[in-house]
Amino acid sequence: METAAKPGGFFISFEGPEGGGKSTQIHRLATSLAEQGYPVWTTREPGGTRVGEMIRPILLGRQHIPMTPWSEALLFTAARAQHVEEVIRPRLTRGELVLCDRYTDSTLAYQGYGRGLDLDTLRWLQAQATGGLQPNLTILLNLPVETGLSRIPRPSQDRLDRETASFHQRVRAGYQEMAAADPRRWREVDATAEEGQVAQGILALARDALQQAGVRPAEKRSA
Ligand SMILES: Nc1ncnc2c1ncn2[C@@H]1O[C@H](COP(=O)(O)OP(=O)(O)OP(=O)(O)O)[C@@H](O)[C@H]1O
Ligand SMILES: [Mg+2]
Repeated sequence: METAAKPGGFFISFEGPEGGGKSTQIHRLATSLAEQGYPVWTTREPGGTRVGEMIRPILLGRQHIPMTPWSEALLFTAARAQHVEEVIRPRLTRGELVLCDRYTDSTLAYQGYGRGLDLDTLRWLQAQATGGLQPNLTILLNLPVETGLSRIPRPSQDRLDRETASFHQRVRAGYQEMAAADPRRWREVDATAEEGQVAQGILALARDALQQAGVRPAEKRSA
């Protein structure tokens, strides 16, 4: 399995059910790591590129456009292919820390476990689209589905937020199954805790993982 190409490059993805605090926590972690001297780039899926930001409203826009599960899976994956080629891989190659709000595991959780598409086919598709690029660390912000959804006001809920309760339960269970199957890459965080406490926990996990990988802030690297 391939990870960051050059010393210093490190790829962290944020995953989990709706409203777990991914977007909140990714920015907190980016700020903390940047303060420590790491070159950090924060991005999101679908998005992060012109093509990705154009695909995003098709999938998550206010129009709530109906689509088939495979259409959905392929649109998310198309945005991802562009994102890896244009943003993620070049930044890792330059030795940056890339923090990504959702990545391949979201497609496995939502279109695989949630919609019922074949997981092995989806895994194969992700490998093709990303050239096999996997995160060094994946943070799972885990919380009960109802707690997460209750944090998102109804007018802000997107097409996937408004799926059935059983869909969201399958997504959450899927995340837990994937995390349990690969404990080397995944770290689970209790997302029901207070925001600052969650941030502290994630920072500690990220620092451990960076230390283990021998990735140090810029000042220390050049010393
Ligand atoms: N630990 C927390 N406790 C309570 N509320 C929180 C916590 N973390 C975030 N929130 C609030 O919950 C809402 C959802 O947070 P956020 O947008 O970061 O989650 P998300 O995982 O990115 O959601 P989505 O799945 O919709 O992208 C926001 O209003 C945020 O302020
Ligand atoms: Mg978000």
